Amino acid sequence: MPTNYHFTTTLAHVMERGGVIEELYHDRALVLHSDHPFKGNMDIDKLEACIQRHGVDKIPFVRMEASTNLIGGQPFSIRNLMDVRAVCDKYGIMLVLDASLLGENAFLVKQREDAWKENTMGDILRTMTGLADLVYFSARKLSSSRGGGICTNRRDIYTKMEALIPLFEGFLTYGGISVREIEAMAVGLYETLDETMISQSPTFIKYMVEQLDAAGIPVITPPGVLGCHIDAGKFCEHIPQAEYPAGALAAALYLISGVRAMERGTISSIRDEEGNDVLADAELLRLAVPRRVFTLSQVNYVIDRLQWLWDNRELIGGLKFTYEPPVLRFFMGGLAPTSDWPDRLVSKFRKDFGDSL
Ligand SMILES: Cc1ncc(COP(=O)(O)O)c(C=O)c1O
Repeated sequence: MPTNYHFTTTLAHVMERGGVIEELYHDRALVLHSDHPFKGNMDIDKLEACIQRHGVDKIPFVRMEASTNLIGGQPFSIRNLMDVRAVCDKYGIMLVLDASLLGENAFLVKQREDAWKENTMGDILRTMTGLADLVYFSARKLSSSRGGGICTNRRDIYTKMEALIPLFEGFLTYGGISVREIEAMAVGLYETLDETMISQSPTFIKYMVEQLDAAGIPVITPPGVLGCHIDAGKFCEHIPQAEYPAGALAAALYLISGVRAMERGTISSIRDEEGNDVLADAELLRLAVPRRVFTLSQVNYVIDRLQWLWDNRELIGGLKFTYEPPVLRFFMGGLAPTSDWPDRLVSKFRKDFGDSL
Protein backbone atom coordinates (compact mmCIF):
# COMPACT_ATOMS: atom_id res chain seq x y z
CA MET A 1 0.00 0.00 0.00
CA PRO A 2 1.63 3.26 -1.13
CA THR A 3 1.41 6.15 1.33
CA ASN A 4 2.98 9.56 1.86
CA TYR A 5 4.14 8.25 5.27
CA HIS A 6 3.03 5.39 7.46
CA PHE A 7 0.97 5.72 10.63
CA THR A 8 1.47 3.27 13.49
CA THR A 9 -2.00 1.71 13.72
CA THR A 10 -2.52 1.72 9.94
CA LEU A 11 0.77 -0.13 9.50
CA ALA A 12 -0.26 -2.67 12.15
CA HIS A 13 -3.56 -3.30 10.31
CA VAL A 14 -1.85 -3.65 6.93
CA MET A 15 0.71 -6.08 8.39
CA GLU A 16 -1.99 -8.02 10.17
CA ARG A 17 -3.59 -8.62 6.75
CA GLY A 18 -0.23 -9.76 5.33
CA GLY A 19 0.33 -6.54 3.42
CA VAL A 20 3.31 -4.25 3.14
CA ILE A 21 3.54 -0.51 2.80
CA GLU A 22 5.76 1.75 0.73
CA GLU A 23 6.43 5.27 1.92
CA LEU A 24 6.66 7.54 -1.10
CA TYR A 25 7.69 10.78 0.54
CA HIS A 26 9.81 13.21 -1.45
CA ASP A 27 13.51 13.72 -0.89
CA ARG A 28 13.11 16.76 1.39
CA ALA A 29 10.45 15.28 3.68
CA LEU A 30 12.98 14.04 6.22
CA VAL A 31 15.04 17.24 6.37
CA LEU A 32 13.91 18.08 9.87
CA HIS A 33 14.93 21.74 9.91
CA SER A 34 13.62 23.08 6.63
CA ASP A 35 11.41 25.69 5.02
CA HIS A 36 9.63 23.33 2.62
CA PRO A 37 5.93 24.26 2.92
CA PHE A 38 4.57 20.77 2.09
CA LYS A 39 6.83 18.08 3.47
CA GLY A 40 3.82 15.72 3.52
CA ASN A 41 3.58 15.63 -0.31
CA MET A 42 3.85 12.31 -2.08
CA ASP A 43 6.56 11.90 -4.71
CA ILE A 44 4.55 11.30 -7.92
CA ASP A 45 7.44 9.69 -9.81
CA LYS A 46 7.89 7.24 -6.94
CA LEU A 47 4.16 6.47 -7.03
CA GLU A 48 4.33 5.68 -10.75
CA ALA A 49 7.41 3.52 -10.22
CA CYS A 50 5.78 1.70 -7.28
CA ILE A 51 2.71 0.83 -9.37
CA GLN A 52 4.89 -0.32 -12.28
CA ARG A 53 7.00 -2.46 -9.94
CA HIS A 54 4.19 -4.23 -8.09
CA GLY A 55 1.34 -4.13 -10.63
CA VAL A 56 -2.11 -2.61 -10.17
CA ASP A 57 -3.68 -5.80 -8.82
CA LYS A 58 -1.29 -5.79 -5.83
CA ILE A 59 -2.27 -2.26 -4.78
CA PRO A 60 -5.71 -2.06 -3.15
CA PHE A 61 -5.46 1.69 -2.50
CA VAL A 62 -3.17 4.68 -2.23
CA ARG A 63 -3.25 6.41 1.13
CA MET A 64 -2.64 10.10 1.82
CA GLU A 65 -2.34 11.13 5.46
CA ALA A 66 -3.30 14.60 6.57
CA SER A 67 -1.04 15.21 8.26
CA THR A 68 2.08 13.03 8.33
CA ASN A 69 1.96 12.24 12.04
CA LEU A 70 5.36 10.58 12.40
CA ILE A 71 7.44 13.20 10.60
CA GLY A 72 6.22 16.22 12.46
CA GLY A 73 2.62 16.88 11.40
CA GLN A 74 3.63 18.14 7.96
CA PRO A 75 0.87 18.98 5.44
CA PHE A 76 0.46 18.21 1.74
CA SER A 77 -0.76 20.58 -0.97
CA ILE A 78 -3.92 20.35 -3.08
CA ARG A 79 -1.71 20.35 -6.19
CA ASN A 80 -0.03 17.20 -4.88
CA LEU A 81 -3.34 15.55 -3.97
CA MET A 82 -4.61 16.31 -7.51
CA ASP A 83 -1.47 14.75 -8.99
CA VAL A 84 -1.93 11.64 -6.82
CA ARG A 85 -5.57 11.49 -7.93
CA ALA A 86 -4.54 11.67 -11.59
CA VAL A 87 -2.23 8.68 -11.16
CA CYS A 88 -4.95 6.76 -9.28
CA ASP A 89 -7.39 7.52 -12.14
CA LYS A 90 -4.86 6.41 -14.72
CA TYR A 91 -4.55 2.98 -13.09
CA GLY A 92 -8.02 2.67 -11.54
CA ILE A 93 -6.70 2.56 -7.97
CA MET A 94 -8.75 3.79 -5.01
CA LEU A 95 -7.52 6.89 -3.15
CA VAL A 96 -8.00 6.87 0.62
CA LEU A 97 -7.59 10.03 2.69
CA ASP A 98 -6.76 9.98 6.40
CA ALA A 99 -8.44 13.27 7.26
CA SER A 100 -7.59 13.30 10.97
CA LEU A 101 -5.84 16.67 10.71
CA LEU A 102 -7.50 17.78 7.49
CA GLY A 103 -8.90 21.03 8.93
CA GLU A 104 -5.46 22.29 9.93
CA ASN A 105 -3.86 20.90 6.73
CA ALA A 106 -6.48 22.86 4.76
CA PHE A 107 -5.70 25.99 6.78
CA LEU A 108 -2.01 25.67 5.83
CA VAL A 109 -3.04 25.18 2.17
CA LYS A 110 -4.79 28.53 2.41
CA GLN A 111 -1.69 30.09 3.98
CA ARG A 112 0.96 28.47 1.77
CA GLU A 113 -0.52 27.47 -1.60
CA ASP A 114 -0.96 30.52 -3.86
CA ALA A 115 -3.80 29.06 -5.93
CA TRP A 116 -6.00 28.67 -2.81
CA LYS A 117 -5.30 31.89 -0.88
CA GLU A 118 -8.63 33.52 -1.79
CA ASN A 119 -10.78 30.43 -1.18
CA THR A 120 -12.87 29.67 1.88
CA MET A 121 -12.11 26.78 4.21
CA GLY A 122 -15.27 25.16 2.84
CA ASP A 123 -13.96 25.33 -0.76
CA ILE A 124 -10.63 23.84 0.26
CA LEU A 125 -12.08 21.06 2.42
CA ARG A 126 -14.66 20.13 -0.20
CA THR A 127 -11.96 20.00 -2.87
CA MET A 128 -9.66 17.83 -0.77
CA THR A 129 -12.30 15.37 0.36
CA GLY A 130 -13.80 15.32 -3.16
CA LEU A 131 -10.52 14.04 -4.56
CA ALA A 132 -10.62 10.90 -2.40
CA ASP A 133 -12.78 7.81 -2.87
CA LEU A 134 -12.88 7.19 0.84
CA VAL A 135 -12.20 9.55 3.74
CA TYR A 136 -11.68 8.39 7.30
CA PHE A 137 -10.79 10.35 10.40
CA SER A 138 -10.03 10.27 14.07
CA ALA A 139 -12.77 12.42 15.57
CA ARG A 140 -10.45 13.27 18.47
CA LYS A 141 -8.51 15.47 16.09
CA LEU A 142 -10.77 16.47 13.21
CA SER A 143 -13.84 17.28 15.25
CA SER A 144 -12.63 17.47 18.89
CA SER A 145 -14.98 14.67 19.87
CA ARG A 146 -14.76 10.93 20.45
CA GLY A 147 -14.57 8.05 18.02
CA GLY A 148 -14.09 8.49 14.32
CA GLY A 149 -15.80 8.25 10.97
CA ILE A 150 -15.62 6.80 7.48
CA CYS A 151 -17.18 8.70 4.57
CA THR A 152 -17.61 7.91 0.91
CA ASN A 153 -19.70 9.10 -2.01
CA ARG A 154 -19.16 5.82 -3.83
CA ARG A 155 -22.10 3.47 -3.51
CA ASP A 156 -19.97 0.37 -4.30
CA ILE A 157 -17.55 1.11 -1.45
CA TYR A 158 -20.44 1.91 0.89
CA THR A 159 -22.18 -1.37 0.10
CA LYS A 160 -18.98 -3.33 0.61
CA MET A 161 -18.46 -1.79 4.04
CA GLU A 162 -22.11 -1.99 5.08
CA ALA A 163 -21.76 -5.63 6.07
CA LEU A 164 -18.63 -4.93 8.12
CA ILE A 165 -20.16 -2.23 10.32
CA PRO A 166 -22.32 -4.53 12.50
CA LEU A 167 -19.38 -6.95 12.63
CA PHE A 168 -16.86 -4.46 14.00
CA GLU A 169 -18.70 -1.35 15.20
CA GLY A 170 -22.48 -1.40 15.74
CA PHE A 171 -25.67 -0.89 13.77
CA LEU A 172 -25.18 1.03 10.51
CA THR A 173 -27.01 4.20 11.54
CA TYR A 174 -24.80 4.92 14.53
CA GLY A 175 -21.72 2.71 14.13
CA GLY A 176 -21.38 2.04 17.83
CA ILE A 177 -21.20 5.73 18.69
CA SER A 178 -23.80 7.42 20.88
CA VAL A 179 -26.12 9.97 19.25
CA ARG A 180 -24.83 12.60 21.68
CA GLU A 181 -21.32 11.98 20.42
CA ILE A 182 -22.41 12.14 16.79
CA GLU A 183 -23.94 15.55 17.52
CA ALA A 184 -20.68 16.70 19.13
CA MET A 185 -18.84 15.41 16.07
CA ALA A 186 -21.09 17.45 13.78
CA VAL A 187 -20.35 20.61 15.79
CA GLY A 188 -16.63 19.86 15.58
CA LEU A 189 -16.80 19.28 11.84
CA TYR A 190 -18.55 22.62 11.31
CA GLU A 191 -15.77 24.24 13.35
CA THR A 192 -13.24 23.21 10.72
CA LEU A 193 -14.96 25.67 8.36
CA ASP A 194 -14.38 28.56 10.75
CA GLU A 195 -11.02 30.15 10.08
CA THR A 196 -10.82 31.84 13.47
CA MET A 197 -11.31 28.45 15.13
CA ILE A 198 -9.20 26.26 12.87
CA SER A 199 -6.27 28.71 12.90
CA GLN A 200 -5.81 28.42 16.66
CA SER A 201 -3.82 25.21 16.81
CA PRO A 202 -1.43 25.99 13.90
CA THR A 203 -0.94 29.53 15.22
CA PHE A 204 -0.01 28.27 18.71
CA ILE A 205 2.26 25.63 17.16
CA LYS A 206 3.96 28.29 15.01
CA TYR A 207 4.55 30.45 18.08
CA MET A 208 6.00 27.54 20.03
CA VAL A 209 8.24 26.39 17.19
CA GLU A 210 9.55 29.91 16.56
CA GLN A 211 10.28 30.56 20.23
CA LEU A 212 12.14 27.26 20.63
CA ASP A 213 13.97 27.68 17.33
CA ALA A 214 15.11 31.18 18.35
CA ALA A 215 16.41 29.69 21.62
CA GLY A 216 18.54 27.24 19.63
CA ILE A 217 16.47 24.19 20.62
CA PRO A 218 16.25 21.66 17.77
CA VAL A 219 12.68 21.72 16.55
CA ILE A 220 10.95 20.56 13.38
CA THR A 221 10.44 23.33 10.87
CA PRO A 222 8.46 24.67 9.22
CA PRO A 223 5.76 24.57 11.91
CA GLY A 224 3.12 22.04 10.91
CA VAL A 225 -0.10 20.85 12.50
CA LEU A 226 -0.98 18.51 15.37
CA GLY A 227 1.80 19.77 17.63
CA CYS A 228 5.22 21.24 18.05
CA HIS A 229 7.81 18.53 17.44
CA ILE A 230 11.24 18.51 19.05
CA ASP A 231 14.10 16.84 17.19
CA ALA A 232 14.96 14.45 20.02
CA GLY A 233 17.73 12.84 17.97
CA LYS A 234 19.57 16.15 18.14
CA PHE A 235 18.37 17.21 21.61
CA CYS A 236 19.71 13.92 23.02
CA GLU A 237 22.42 13.16 20.50
CA HIS A 238 24.45 11.48 23.27
CA ILE A 239 21.74 8.75 23.55
CA PRO A 240 21.98 5.93 20.97
CA GLN A 241 18.81 5.32 18.96
CA ALA A 242 18.63 1.82 20.45
CA GLU A 243 18.08 3.49 23.85
CA TYR A 244 15.16 5.53 22.59
CA PRO A 245 16.18 9.22 22.79
CA ALA A 246 12.65 10.52 22.08
CA GLY A 247 11.14 8.34 24.81
CA ALA A 248 13.89 9.42 27.21
CA LEU A 249 13.21 13.07 26.41
CA ALA A 250 9.49 12.53 27.06
CA ALA A 251 10.28 10.99 30.46
CA ALA A 252 12.74 13.77 31.36
CA LEU A 253 10.30 16.51 30.41
CA TYR A 254 7.57 14.89 32.46
CA LEU A 255 9.84 14.67 35.53
CA ILE A 256 10.73 18.34 35.50
CA SER A 257 7.43 19.83 34.36
CA GLY A 258 4.53 17.38 34.60
CA VAL A 259 4.03 17.94 30.84
CA ARG A 260 3.06 14.77 28.97
CA ALA A 261 4.54 14.67 25.49
CA MET A 262 4.37 11.80 23.02
CA GLU A 263 7.28 9.75 21.75
CA ARG A 264 7.35 9.56 17.96
CA GLY A 265 10.48 7.59 17.21
CA THR A 266 11.82 4.08 17.57
CA ILE A 267 9.54 3.14 20.50
CA SER A 268 6.65 3.87 18.10
CA SER A 269 8.30 1.61 15.51
CA ILE A 270 8.34 -2.19 15.24
CA ARG A 271 10.84 -5.08 15.33
CA ASP A 272 11.99 -6.95 12.21
CA GLU A 273 11.81 -10.75 11.78
CA GLU A 274 15.09 -11.16 13.70
CA GLY A 275 13.69 -9.21 16.61
CA ASN A 276 15.79 -6.10 16.05
CA ASP A 277 14.34 -2.63 16.40
CA VAL A 278 13.50 -1.01 13.08
CA LEU A 279 15.06 2.36 13.81
CA ALA A 280 12.74 5.27 13.08
CA ASP A 281 13.59 7.79 10.33
CA ALA A 282 13.26 10.54 12.91
CA GLU A 283 13.32 10.64 16.70
CA LEU A 284 10.65 13.18 17.57
CA LEU A 285 8.98 14.37 20.72
CA ARG A 286 5.47 15.58 20.00
CA LEU A 287 3.97 18.34 22.09
CA ALA A 288 0.41 18.14 20.84
CA VAL A 289 -1.52 21.41 20.67
CA PRO A 290 -5.14 20.56 19.89
CA ARG A 291 -7.51 23.45 19.32
CA ARG A 292 -9.44 24.95 22.26
CA VAL A 293 -7.39 23.10 24.88
CA PHE A 294 -4.37 25.18 25.91
CA THR A 295 -3.80 28.82 26.83
CA LEU A 296 -0.75 30.76 25.70
CA SER A 297 0.62 30.83 29.25
CA GLN A 298 0.58 27.03 29.28
CA VAL A 299 2.56 27.05 26.04
CA ASN A 300 5.01 29.52 27.58
CA TYR A 301 5.39 27.24 30.61
CA VAL A 302 6.40 24.34 28.34
CA ILE A 303 8.89 26.55 26.47
CA ASP A 304 10.42 27.65 29.78
CA ARG A 305 10.86 24.07 31.01
CA LEU A 306 12.30 22.94 27.68
CA GLN A 307 14.89 25.70 27.90
CA TRP A 308 16.04 24.42 31.30
CA LEU A 309 16.08 20.85 29.99
CA TRP A 310 18.09 21.88 26.92
CA ASP A 311 20.72 23.46 29.20
CA ASN A 312 20.83 20.25 31.26
CA ARG A 313 20.36 17.76 28.44
CA GLU A 314 23.54 15.80 29.16
CA LEU A 315 21.82 14.54 32.35
CA ILE A 316 19.19 12.68 30.29
CA GLY A 317 19.95 8.97 29.78
CA GLY A 318 18.49 6.07 27.85
CA LEU A 319 15.54 3.70 28.31
CA LYS A 320 14.98 -0.02 27.87
CA PHE A 321 11.79 -2.06 27.57
CA THR A 322 10.67 -3.97 30.65
CA TYR A 323 7.39 -5.06 29.09
CA GLU A 324 6.91 -5.14 25.35
CA PRO A 325 3.62 -6.15 23.74
CA PRO A 326 4.06 -7.73 20.28
CA VAL A 327 1.85 -5.20 18.48
CA LEU A 328 1.74 -1.41 18.88
CA ARG A 329 4.13 -1.68 21.82
CA PHE A 330 4.20 2.07 22.49
CA PHE A 331 0.62 2.08 23.78
CA MET A 332 0.93 -0.33 26.71
CA GLY A 333 4.65 -1.13 26.94
CA GLY A 334 6.74 -0.44 30.05
CA LEU A 335 10.20 1.10 30.08
CA ALA A 336 12.90 1.68 32.69
CA PRO A 337 15.91 4.01 32.72
CA THR A 338 19.27 2.45 31.82
CA SER A 339 20.92 4.15 34.84
CA ASP A 340 20.00 6.40 37.77
CA TRP A 341 19.82 9.41 35.41
CA PRO A 342 16.24 10.39 36.46
CA ASP A 343 17.46 10.89 40.08
CA ARG A 344 20.37 13.00 38.94
CA LEU A 345 18.13 15.08 36.68
CA VAL A 346 15.62 15.74 39.46
CA SER A 347 18.42 16.59 41.95
CA LYS A 348 19.79 19.20 39.57
CA PHE A 349 16.30 20.62 39.08
CA ARG A 350 15.86 20.89 42.89
CA LYS A 351 19.30 22.47 43.24
CA ASP A 352 18.37 25.15 40.70
CA PHE A 353 14.81 25.82 41.87
CA GLY A 354 14.47 24.39 45.41
CA ASP A 355 10.91 23.52 46.28
CA SER A 356 9.61 26.81 44.93
CA LEU A 357 8.00 25.29 41.83
C1 LIG B 1 -3.15 11.07 10.90
C2 LIG B 1 -3.70 10.27 12.05
N1 LIG B 1 -4.51 9.22 11.81
C3 LIG B 1 -5.04 8.48 12.80
C4 LIG B 1 -4.78 8.77 14.12
C5 LIG B 1 -5.37 7.85 15.18
O1 LIG B 1 -6.33 8.44 15.90
P1 LIG B 1 -7.13 7.64 17.06
O2 LIG B 1 -6.14 7.50 18.18
O3 LIG B 1 -8.24 8.54 17.40
O4 LIG B 1 -7.54 6.35 16.49
C6 LIG B 1 -3.91 9.83 14.43
C7 LIG B 1 -3.57 10.12 15.84
O5 LIG B 1 -2.77 10.91 16.22
C8 LIG B 1 -3.40 10.62 13.37
O6 LIG B 1 -2.57 11.66 13.60
